[in-house]
Amino acid sequence: MESVYIHIPFCKSICSYCDFCKVLYHGPWVVQYLNALLTEIKDKYDGEVIKTMYIGGGTPSSLDMKDLKYLFDIIGKFNLADDLEFTFECNLNDITEELLVFLKEHRVNRLSIGIESFNPKKLEFMERSHTFDDAVKKMKLMRKIGFDNINVDFIYGIPKESIRMMKKDLDMVLKLNPDHVSTYSLIVEDNTKIGISGIVPIPEELDASMYEYVCEKLEIKNYEHYEVSNFALKGKKSKHNLNYWDNNEYYGFGLGASGYIHGVRYENTRSLTKYLNGEFLLKEEVLSKEDKMYNELMLGFRKMEGINLKEFFRKYEVNMQEVFDLKEALDEEELIVDGEYIYINPEYIYVMNEILIKIL
Ligand SMILES: C[S@@+](CC[C@H](N)C(=O)[O-])C[C@H]1O[C@@H](n2cnc3c(N)ncnc32)[C@H](O)[C@@H]1O
Ligand code: SF4
Repeated sequence: MESVYIHIPFCKSICSYCDFCKVLYHGPWVVQYLNALLTEIKDKYDGEVIKTMYIGGGTPSSLDMKDLKYLFDIIGKFNLADDLEFTFECNLNDITEELLVFLKEHRVNRLSIGIESFNPKKLEFMERSHTFDDAVKKMKLMRKIGFDNINVDFIYGIPKESIRMMKKDLDMVLKLNPDHVSTYSLIVEDNTKIGISGIVPIPEELDASMYEYVCEKLEIKNYEHYEVSNFALKGKKSKHNLNYWDNNEYYGFGLGASGYIHGVRYENTRSLTKYLNGEFLLKEEVLSKEDKMYNELMLGFRKMEGINLKEFFRKYEVNMQEVFDLKEALDEEELIVDGEYIYINPEYIYVMNEILIKIL
């Protein structure tokens, strides 16, 4: 394992659409949580050199400086590589010079900011608040402190959002000159405020047009579309996420975190009470060779470059074409083979799931 994900579930407020594993911030719980996290890490971590570290949430930046210092003491237990990629998720409203200097001093070299939108109506619907001016100021501050690898998240496809609204919103986000953009079309999850109140997703056709526009616009702006929802300037692809899409193993620590260690995929409990009591695990599954090949395909085709056929053979000692029936998709040019790689034709990337279902 060369990658570590650490989940910090606390958020200062809860967004209407969010189905992630999160709890409303409550100061006294944080130390208890970090104590439990330390126990879990001591239980699982075998001392390997770690090349990518990702602190996600929830909202890791919701922690106060005292708790952050404790979190980074815990991170000090890991054997970190010299060329470590170290991502820390931040909420714009939590960003201060003190926080940024602290993160920089503790080897964080990639920030991920949940901007989502600057449109007041969208922000109100999502129950998030920030202004464009504040984002510009914070972005300048991040650059001044020396962060040269900054991701922003962008959500589109809010009910009543028109293409025009979305274009303007994306333009504003791009004015921040991020190094990396993750874009998501709104998913209405049952277990969220918007799901419970019966919000209906936007029509599929509109969603497809928006996705097409987002891809074109970002490519014009020199962002490489390297994964279904992810775009990066040169040299700024997320190594941590690529490790995941390459179906490699990784540690996952924290509430609701998932991981993949020694051929076993596991998922931690989402119950804070259980986690604080040291009952970390919710479920685990020992993967067969077939499971691993299935995951290789499901994850690998998310990358625009696709799957390396030689690498597939090296890992599983069988040709990919012998395991999966790819002929029809190849004949219909939904899949393309180019040199060592097989990938989904970019024209069909929006209907990727249907292609995968057909193959599997
Ligand atoms: C776990 S959140 C982490 C970011 C941070 N907690 C925040 O919201 O600022 C990761 C990203 O997933 C996306 N996301 C979360 N829920 C979503 C939903 N229901 N539909 C689409 N995208 C969603 C958002 O872009 C969000 O920034
Ligand atoms: S979207 Fe992010 S900030 Fe909002 S509740 Fe979910 S994890 Fe917390």
